[in-house]
Amino acid sequence: MLGAHNSFVLKGDIAFSEDLKNIKTIKDGYVVSLDGICMGAFDTLPKKYEELEVIDYKGSLIVPGMVDLHAHAPQYLCSGIATDNELLDWLNKYIFPEEAKYSDLEYAKKSYQNFANDMKRGFTTRASIFGTMHTDATILLMDLLEETGIVSYVGKVNMNRNSVDALTENSEDESLEETRRWLQSIEGKYTRTFPILTPRFIPSCSDGLMKGLGELSKEKGLRIQSHLSENVDEVKWVKELVPESTSYANAYELFNAIGEKTVPSIMAHCVYSDDEEIRIMKEHGTFIAHCADSNINLASGIAPIRRFLNEGLKVGIGSDVAAGSTLNMLRMILVTIQASKMYYRLVDSSLEPLTFEEAFYLATLGGGEYFGKVGTFKEGYAFDAVVISDENMAAKPDNVRQRLEKICYNDADAVILSKYVDGKNIFLRRET
Ligand code: GUN
Ligand code: FE
Repeated sequence: MLGAHNSFVLKGDIAFSEDLKNIKTIKDGYVVSLDGICMGAFDTLPKKYEELEVIDYKGSLIVPGMVDLHAHAPQYLCSGIATDNELLDWLNKYIFPEEAKYSDLEYAKKSYQNFANDMKRGFTTRASIFGTMHTDATILLMDLLEETGIVSYVGKVNMNRNSVDALTENSEDESLEETRRWLQSIEGKYTRTFPILTPRFIPSCSDGLMKGLGELSKEKGLRIQSHLSENVDEVKWVKELVPESTSYANAYELFNAIGEKTVPSIMAHCVYSDDEEIRIMKEHGTFIAHCADSNINLASGIAPIRRFLNEGLKVGIGSDVAAGSTLNMLRMILVTIQASKMYYRLVDSSLEPLTFEEAFYLATLGGGEYFGKVGTFKEGYAFDAVVISDENMAAKPDNVRQRLEKICYNDADAVILSKYVDGKNIFLRRET
């Protein structure tokens, strides 16, 4: 029998990125999963796959699962509210007090369950996520995410300075010891949930803590996620905190906490990344999590994504809830395009706005690369797919590519029917 586990064919209106500039579409096409690996998308089903079960989603869109490269699970309650401040005041006023509540495991369980439920039923199939500094609550979050079936990196946050007392680790040693306890507790526990070292950002971590995390990353081959050059006051503060640094990225570099090509880090925002930061990120194979929605909500600025792409940097999209409004990746695609247009109009007219093709690529293949061969329906990629009905769209074009664009501009009529990760069905809409 051909292919035993997770082997089947989806039939419907297929769309996926071929490369940064091109989306391939097939109306009434077939996309094949063999043991959870995509065998490609076809106009007519190749003979060798004829014995596989065909699941017919006639009239619905079938696209690769989306990748959210940066989100804060404990902030979920705050998304869409409390964005009347800029970054540093917003953290102090709303976010630190909220995250402090996660010392209470009952509170953590309830709100992490809400986050996990929405992740499961949304467009996202893979994500990189911040927890809080609390080890036990972070383990709980990992348990719940593992249950959803999505693949994720999850970090226990490190922070030992410049926060409210209730959300500050007592010392460098305590922070590092808790991180080791966390890693030990989850060793071998999950199949699709991976730990990632998560120093909150330079202002939250003393020099010794950053250095210690850099060493831990080397010792265990662990990846790192953090924030970089998000806000003008933040960038200025980092220069004061690490006076010997030549840029914010260099501050991470000085502590060996910027990652390397084989163990790449994710840096969120990069709104104010200059020539030097671009060089450093290129050298270390850093993935930029572009958080356009968050950058607008906190009036942080607009990241020069066209420039990053021209330079050959690796870029994906992050919802960055709760500075971002929603986990909805279709919305993130739209805001990414809109932000790039404002950058072009208001900041630098030599940097062309992003096209729909490019923004869709960033949300799928761009972030997907962080997870390996992920983010498209080419042969050999992980079979991550979302089936979306747009049948309620009142003014619906015939063209598949236009229908895909249209649901990003108006996601109210995009209904997820089912979702697959590594060929496993993890969500199926039940008619009510
Ligand atoms: N920088 C440090 N912490 C945070 C956070 O929680 N959200 C955002 N947007 N930026 C940060
Ligand atoms: Fe963030």
